Amino acid sequence: MKVRGFGRLLKAANGFLYHFSRYCRHSNWMDSASDVERRNYQAVKIYHSLEKSLSFSNRNPSSGWANAQALMRLVSAASNAKRFGFHDKAGLHVLQQFISESESGRPEIASTLKDQIEKLPARPSSSDGIAGGVKQLTDAEMRRGTLDSPEEFFLSRFTLREFKPQVVSDDIVQRAVSLTMKTPSVCNRQAWHIYHTSDPSVRDAVLTLQSGNRGFGDKIPNIFIVTADLKAFMQGEEHYQHWIDGGMLAMSLVYSLHSLGVASCCLNWSQTPARDKRLREIVNIRDSHSIIMMIGAGWPSDNNTVCVSPRRPVSEVFSNLVKN
Ligand SMILES: Cc1cc2nc3c(=O)[nH]c(=O)nc-3n(C[C@H](O)[C@H](O)[C@H](O)COP(=O)(O)O)c2cc1C
Repeated sequence: MKVRGFGRLLKAANGFLYHFSRYCRHSNWMDSASDVERRNYQAVKIYHSLEKSLSFSNRNPSSGWANAQALMRLVSAASNAKRFGFHDKAGLHVLQQFISESESGRPEIASTLKDQIEKLPARPSSSDGIAGGVKQLTDAEMRRGTLDSPEEFFLSRFTLREFKPQVVSDDIVQRAVSLTMKTPSVCNRQAWHIYHTSDPSVRDAVLTLQSGNRGFGDKIPNIFIVTADLKAFMQGEEHYQHWIDGGMLAMSLVYSLHSLGVASCCLNWSQTPARDKRLREIVNIRDSHSIIMMIGAGWPSDNNTVCVSPRRPVSEVFSNLVKN
């Protein structure tokens, strides 16, 4: 028993080393803005701090300017390269709002930044419709999301492992992914990528490497692979952040699908480094994308036998937080 335990520890160590080496190769610990994706993740990290500052009711207009200047450097890099990513564009928008709403705090810096924006060699086309910054939202508007019966929504979701044979169409898939994009993420970095297939040969190829689909994998019409991009993470303390943000995204996808009537089954990717590498050899998952999990999906049959999967009582998982 002891020997098996040590074997598990060794396996875990192998996994930690593999993921540490992936972190070294793909995360942005060098704080580099050289590629458009790394620069975009840096931009959102900075412009979100300006958005936050703009949202405070009691704000100091003389703070945040160092971040505004740092954002200007990234926007200039995008402009010089004539290549604006999504967050470069949103960043420029936020920068302009920040300057106009905080000008009184540091008029000299504001004027320099305005001048720099004016002289940018290239700008994103205004038709892109990418917003950013802050906006007003009433209590009534926020309450539009309140469900008449949250229990009906949450308690009617069950993992399905067998589905109707027809695939979920692309428009439903796209809608589910689009809803999923409202998932919160650290600094709104949205360091995600969702891969999808409804091709049985691709499904079979990836599911042979997944350990929890025996007996039903060939009955899954749609397969998603949820990943998180290591390029978005800079600070050493963020070494687990992509797992967290990726997990949040996966949960949202499950609920988005459920809201559209599509059933799903999460499929773990707690895998050995060898299998993780093998999967990357057979499908187009990018190197910097860490695989969070697979999700099988499809339409429920008219009648389904599901696992009850009883839930622990709230009293076991909830306590008041108190000072020691
Ligand atoms: C990260 C994760 C990985 C999972 N992996 C598998 C899997 O490999 N195979 C499987 O049949 N179910 C898998 N499940 C489904 C769980 O068994 C299921 O969610 C749990 O029993 C609760 O049941 P419910 O989803 O019906 O409420 C996974 C769930 C999660 C969240």
